[in-house]
Amino acid sequence: MRERLANLRWKRLLAVVAGLTLVGTGVTVAAGTWFYGRAVRSNVGDLDFANELAIPPLAEPTIDADGTRVFDLRFTAGESDLVDGGPSETWGLNGTYLGPTVRADRGDKVRINVTNGVDETTTLHWHGMHLPARMDGGPHQMVEPRDTWSPTWTLDQPAATLWYHPHLHGETAEHVYRGAAGMFLVDDPAAAPGLPDTYGVDDIPLIIQDKSFDGDGDLSMSTPMGSGVGFLGDTIVVNGTTNPHVPVTTGLVRLRVLNASNARVYNLGFPDGRSFWQVASDAGLLAAPHETERLQVSPGERAEIVVAVEPGDETVLRSFAPDLGLDLFSDRFDGGDDTFDIVQLRAADELSASPSLPDELATIDAPDEADADATREFSLRGTAINGRDMDMGRVDEVVTVDSTEIWEVTNEQSRPHSFHPHLVHFAVLDVDGQAPPPEMAGWKDTIYVPPDTTIRIIARFDDHADPTTPYMFHCHVLDHEDRGMMGQFVVVEPGDEPDLSGMGDMPGHDH
Ligand code: C2O
Ligand code: CU
Repeated sequence: MRERLANLRWKRLLAVVAGLTLVGTGVTVAAGTWFYGRAVRSNVGDLDFANELAIPPLAEPTIDADGTRVFDLRFTAGESDLVDGGPSETWGLNGTYLGPTVRADRGDKVRINVTNGVDETTTLHWHGMHLPARMDGGPHQMVEPRDTWSPTWTLDQPAATLWYHPHLHGETAEHVYRGAAGMFLVDDPAAAPGLPDTYGVDDIPLIIQDKSFDGDGDLSMSTPMGSGVGFLGDTIVVNGTTNPHVPVTTGLVRLRVLNASNARVYNLGFPDGRSFWQVASDAGLLAAPHETERLQVSPGERAEIVVAVEPGDETVLRSFAPDLGLDLFSDRFDGGDDTFDIVQLRAADELSASPSLPDELATIDAPDEADADATREFSLRGTAINGRDMDMGRVDEVVTVDSTEIWEVTNEQSRPHSFHPHLVHFAVLDVDGQAPPPEMAGWKDTIYVPPDTTIRIIARFDDHADPTTPYMFHCHVLDHEDRGMMGQFVVVEPGDEPDLSGMGDMPGHDH
């Protein structure tokens, strides 16, 4: 009797457990489906493009006695009207959101007075710039509140659309997200192929960012559920303008696209099916215009495109679902199914004629694989490179000056990663052994590395040896970078050893 009762209890207990498990599984499946469904974001159909696109002003330099062009950039905190519903607390340079476009010629000597007018330590890095490590504005060149840091260097690289942004270790995502970023255009009048080049008229900067706002208009940077790339927003902001249109008054318009987003990859094209020409990538012009209907840009990357319009045209630059190369679930949660209208191009009823698109744009003298002096491997996994997290006191790689190197970068997992070395621009040798597609055929400084893919890049390290100051290499997904997906390389004269002992205070240096 007792035994039978005990048996019965067991059976009841089992039934309850089974029932609960079933309900639990059901709830999990339902919740999973709900999150999966909700994880898709799009603004297509929601916009009327009512706001005219802001164009960042050109920074006005003063000219020193020795001809140095001197620019002033001051970090500023304040309020910006980004969305209806209230002002947002933001950062900018010389204003409260983004900064002016700095522009100078190849060969110019520049000095930039970077003043920290906010109450947090930060840095300002010249992304894509070929310059001495001490002038780079990486994590070691910290600028304290109220201080001014004045790097100076000579522009020594092909014409390109570069940019500047903070690079404080562990805080880069926050500082960039608040709005501290801007463009830095290098011109080369001796090698200008005759593209549209009137700034703000037929040569238009597009600083593309995704944001999320709370009900009061304040910026929120919380990572959506399930995301492996960190922050993904639901609102597109271009040059600080939401819901934007840009008036076009010429038959051809050049758009300088900068992906200044934390993690989002854009796959640009036009819903009316028109093709366009890519004329430049990150670090300079392509050899020839590349006609295409889609162009993908990952965080930190730039691309210049030329679009033809007819009088009275209204066409939208849209980001179609990007090809991130991920599995089904990561793809959905990391933005791979998202679509966004970016900006409407509104052509006038009468357009002035543009010069016709040149057949040739630049000579790209990429180094030969056979001339490489060294090959290094970089494996991307989790938030580490080659299994190591960033340590500001550790030198990960030592490069001898006056050498050519091949860097082999592999993404070892189904998660979006990219790779960006400071100091050099590189050419892509191959992607999993295949010749690079045309959009990767120019000089680059940042590259998306799809899962289970190896990309081989080649670069020359011609100058700027300095054993005491490191350059960075890192994933440009800002959340990954902040969590330590970054390493340091030092360029030395033959026989020299790196020595970081003079670098002083090093946050993130944990021994
Ligand atoms: Cu745009 Cu090291 O970064
Ligand atoms: Cu990454």
